[in-house]
Amino acid sequence: MLPSTFIQRLCALLFFLLAAAVQAQTALPRVTILATGGTIAGTGATSTTTVGYTAATVGIDSLIKGVPELQKVARVSGEQVFQIASENMGNEQWLVLAKRVNTLLAQPDVDGIVITHGTDTLEETAYFLDLVVKSKKPVVLVGAMRPSTALSADGPINLYNAVLTAGSQEAIGKGVLVVMNDQIHAARDVTKTNTTTPDTFKTPELGMLGYVVGNRPHFYRAPVRRHTVDTEFDVGQLSALPDVEIAYTYANVGPAAVNAFVAGGAKGIVHAGVGDGSLPNRVRPALSAARQKGVVIGRASRVGQGIVARNGEANDDELDFVVADTLNPQKARILLMLALTRTRDTREIQRMFYAY
Ligand code: SIN
Repeated sequence: MLPSTFIQRLCALLFFLLAAAVQAQTALPRVTILATGGTIAGTGATSTTTVGYTAATVGIDSLIKGVPELQKVARVSGEQVFQIASENMGNEQWLVLAKRVNTLLAQPDVDGIVITHGTDTLEETAYFLDLVVKSKKPVVLVGAMRPSTALSADGPINLYNAVLTAGSQEAIGKGVLVVMNDQIHAARDVTKTNTTTPDTFKTPELGMLGYVVGNRPHFYRAPVRRHTVDTEFDVGQLSALPDVEIAYTYANVGPAAVNAFVAGGAKGIVHAGVGDGSLPNRVRPALSAARQKGVVIGRASRVGQGIVARNGEANDDELDFVVADTLNPQKARILLMLALTRTRDTREIQRMFYAY
């Protein structure tokens, strides 16, 4: 028979260990994962199927269960918002997602949000949210280039790193972030650069913000363009976004796309020009005519890097166009849509392109 003092001490030790475990768990940040589909939730026929798989098949509960390590770094909950491949992401989904993110972040019991997303349009969703989320709490987008069934699938480690970042103090106030391949990028400047490799997300020239290494994020820089709580955009009352299209230019291009967009009722057109946003002689009159009909024209470049200079390759003052600064055409389209929810004044819209 054990002496009663020994039993008392054992009970006290067990109580202490239990209390310590409960305290450690409640000290962890509360991160909500919003799942939208993509390759991170994809499955292939075999473990070596890394192309030709089916995106958006695994549900959020399985994604969370697949990475038990998440429970050690955050109190994680999940919601399935959509289950789609990201080529089907659009304005309608963005409004639903943004409203959900804003609702969750307004709750005191949510410290950060991770959004799992297909990589193809991930940069666009990230930039849209960067402009409309009304909170300093971290929002991190994450995807994968290999389906969940593949050898060396990148989804689990990417998800773990995203949750670590979303639950961190360091990520607060840095705008919407993209975490992929152990790297942290700012929503405004990150882009997908490779069709298939896991290191596809880059912020060329302007540079990524940091790494996730050794179970924590390491930041080396922060975005300086206005974002999240510091923007003038509010999706709260919006049920749709203005139609803004992208006209891509190439050698021998004609005016057909621009004219079709105008006939289809576009409120804005982003011209993805060559070089410094140059306008071919066959396209310029169509864009100018569109502007005279009230369509707002944004001059961007298909090059991928650098500033499109105002009044450089076109007389923007005379044409009453705006320039996209360093935004790529797909992100310029997002800013122009949101700008058009506020104003049709091109001087105001140009100010926004230099601010965001
Ligand atoms: C998608 O964007 O939904 C498919 C591709 C991917 O997630 O990598």
